[in-house]
Amino acid sequence: MDPRLSIYDNLGGAEGIRSLVEAFYPRVQQNDVLAPLFPEDIMPVMEKQYMFLSQFFGGPALFSDAYGHPMMRARHLKFPITDRHADEWLSCMAGALEEIGVESDLREFVLQRLSGPARHFVNTP
Ligand code: HEM
Repeated sequence: MDPRLSIYDNLGGAEGIRSLVEAFYPRVQQNDVLAPLFPEDIMPVMEKQYMFLSQFFGGPALFSDAYGHPMMRARHLKFPITDRHADEWLSCMAGALEEIGVESDLREFVLQRLSGPARHFVNTP
């Protein structure tokens, strides 16, 4: 991990974010807790997540350019998200980071950055 670079660049830029998203969603779809929340056609979700994570990690603002202000908590309100969902989401992300070969320091850092939003999106006891 090079602390002078953004997470985006540390992950390998567009190609790295793409690989991460492609490793993440199959895990989500195989997860008994998360799968019921997601549509069968996962491609549009993957594309939006690619666009969002690019900007969230310091790359180009693809999501905002296409959809305006992210308002991510609001976008998640129509789904009942519990602590358990957040745990499983982060665990799928941990698995995906490992699968694509991200070294452990960077992996921990990325998960740390994602755990704030994940906890923030919990809207159901
Ligand atoms: C805490 C656990 C989470 C759950 C259970 C969850 C679940 C979902 C679901 C069900 C959707 C909508 C799928 C559809 O279009 O039907 C979605 C969309 C999305 N999620 Fe999450 N999510 C979680 C955390 C996160 C986090 C931490 C991020 C990013 C930091 C994130 C980013 C997104 C994005 C970018 C979209 C697409 C938004 C859009 O449609 O415009 N999610 N999520």
